[in-house]
Amino acid sequence: MDAGLRHMLERMPKAELHMHIEGSLEPELIFALAARNGVALKYRSVDELRHAYAFTDLQSFLDIYYAGASVLLKEQDFYDMTRAYLERARADNVRHAELFFDPQTHTERGVSFGTAIGGIHRALQDARTEWGMSSALIMCFLRHLSEEEAFATLEQALPYRDKFIGVGLDSSERGHPPEKFARVFARCRELGLRLVAHAGEEGPPEYIRTALDLLQVERIDHGVRCLEDAELTLRLARDKVPLTVCPLSNVRLRVFDKAADHNLMRLLEAGLTVTVNSDDPAYFGGYVNDNFREMFAVLPLGRTHAHQLARDSFSASFLPPAEKQKLMAEVDAFFAS
Ligand code: ADE
Ligand code: ZN
Repeated sequence: MDAGLRHMLERMPKAELHMHIEGSLEPELIFALAARNGVALKYRSVDELRHAYAFTDLQSFLDIYYAGASVLLKEQDFYDMTRAYLERARADNVRHAELFFDPQTHTERGVSFGTAIGGIHRALQDARTEWGMSSALIMCFLRHLSEEEAFATLEQALPYRDKFIGVGLDSSERGHPPEKFARVFARCRELGLRLVAHAGEEGPPEYIRTALDLLQVERIDHGVRCLEDAELTLRLARDKVPLTVCPLSNVRLRVFDKAADHNLMRLLEAGLTVTVNSDDPAYFGGYVNDNFREMFAVLPLGRTHAHQLARDSFSASFLPPAEKQKLMAEVDAFFAS
């Protein structure tokens, strides 16, 4: 790739909208927290753990991802994990980050909702005061668990309503269609929460349609399989429904065989609002700038695409309109210079 384009991708102001904070736990930090907390791991070394990151599909990743999160016990652990991600994001010139977290991964192990959200939120506050980086937190329901468990999680979350802006839906997609959570999402909508859902990652385009129709989500996380359905693609373009795309994740989880097969360029050509994100950066080979560099290296993407992706990362965010405008103006000024 041209050095100028590379520099532009790295330095352009951007937002990251699809990043699971538990997926930012690097093996070194997993081992450090395991030692600090006296948690036994089934891997003997950082290298051995990294070696296990040879995924064949979403489930093979999730099994290791949930095992990694088992070292998180104390508020400070959640703080340290979040702080480490924010430092990496800052180096990639991420100006605004909307983070997912999976409370059920922790509450199922006896770690309280307050412990998890408290540590994450404190790190977000520090990044705001120290660096002026803005952020928001989105709590995800694990779709392999029941509707009843999702409702119980929502109850636990309500005392912390001021610390998160919305809800999402993640974990094993196939066999757990959006309609399973229609009533939970309806309740969240009544509460004024912003709504997103993973759909069309491994699951069929139909899951994207039902996420829109039955959950009434505002963004689709992944959504790359939409191109299999022409009518759905037209609808997503017409309604400007953002897709938070995670290229390196899709390659590692075998949604596409290799980076050059990724449909990012085709999504853009279809007129869709797309953003580039890291999903679970510690597991998929890189942070947001790594995702940009890889896609621009293997696909015929150029400066105009970079400008559009940077702009849309803010336009698709849940920032207040005035903040969005300010950051999009910064993007425009960056590309004008
Ligand atoms: N949880 C963390 N990463 C995920 C992904 N890519 N898909 C579904 N659930 C997830
Ligand atoms: Zn995800």
